Amino acid sequence: MNTHIALLPASEGISLLAPAKINLALHVTGRREDGYHLLESLVAFAEFGDQIDVSPAAQDRFVVTGPFAHAIPSDASNLVLRARDALRSRFPSRAGAVEIVLEKRLPIASGIGGGSSDAAAALIALNRLWGLDLGMPALCDIGLSLGADLPMCLHGQQTGRPLIARGIGETLHTMPRFPSLPMVLANDGTGLSTPLVFRALLRRDNPPLPSPPDFADIGTVCAYLRETRNDLYAASLTLAPGLGGLLGLFVQSGALYAQMSGSGATCFAIFSDRAAAADAAAFLKARHPQWFVVATETKPASE
Ligand code: C5P
Repeated sequence: MNTHIALLPASEGISLLAPAKINLALHVTGRREDGYHLLESLVAFAEFGDQIDVSPAAQDRFVVTGPFAHAIPSDASNLVLRARDALRSRFPSRAGAVEIVLEKRLPIASGIGGGSSDAAAALIALNRLWGLDLGMPALCDIGLSLGADLPMCLHGQQTGRPLIARGIGETLHTMPRFPSLPMVLANDGTGLSTPLVFRALLRRDNPPLPSPPDFADIGTVCAYLRETRNDLYAASLTLAPGLGGLLGLFVQSGALYAQMSGSGATCFAIFSDRAAAADAAAFLKARHPQWFVVATETKPASE
């Protein structure tokens, strides 16, 4: 894997898509002494996500736009600004003022990594803009200090390849081959607090993921996923009872496989092709116009 992100400082702005992170499977296999949970998760990245634009400026500025802008803080507590400040504190003499514009298209606190993906995109863009030339290991170290999902989102940002994450999310193994998955993402408006979901877990010592096969096609992926779980689902269901109905609608709309992502409450469904995913998204949207519903595809990996 190419571990070098930045070559020359960029004099112009940088625009990046911060893709939705989909936990296709998520097994909770243990707990560390500090309370963090040990996970094994098969993760893919969508073609759909937030948009982040970073450019040199006379003074720091942070602007949040888009359909979910109202739901996140735009002060220094925002994970994007925490990423900027973490990087700047390590390289104060090179970290000039920047304007960051975040278009928030992903629902908040919803299990598809919006905040982590935004922060990962900010780290990669600023690494380039400030000419820091940090490689992936250094960026992942900084990322991990901001959140457990940052390393996988950094890899998702750079390669787009599906991966298996282990530990609390710091050990990553990218898949050599993986098809693009036509998919619908849906959320009924429920946001779930990740710490509360983990606290509601009844069992923390579940079996690991089955060994991954050669993921040659969508059928192989779905057959594998049927042998897996999202171990957070039962805990999330106690906090968001609407989840069961959403998965039921996915089944009615012809999904090959449907599951909750991360700690929820966004669920995903895999379809045989783009047209089937678009039809299912239209079916859900017609019934529930207020829901977040998006037809997308996940990024593939080829050798
Ligand atoms: O690392 P991040 O800030 O995203 O995690 C939010 C919270 O979710 C943690 O404080 C912890 O309570 C819980 N968590 C966990 N095990 C993980 C990831 C997150 O218990 N692997």
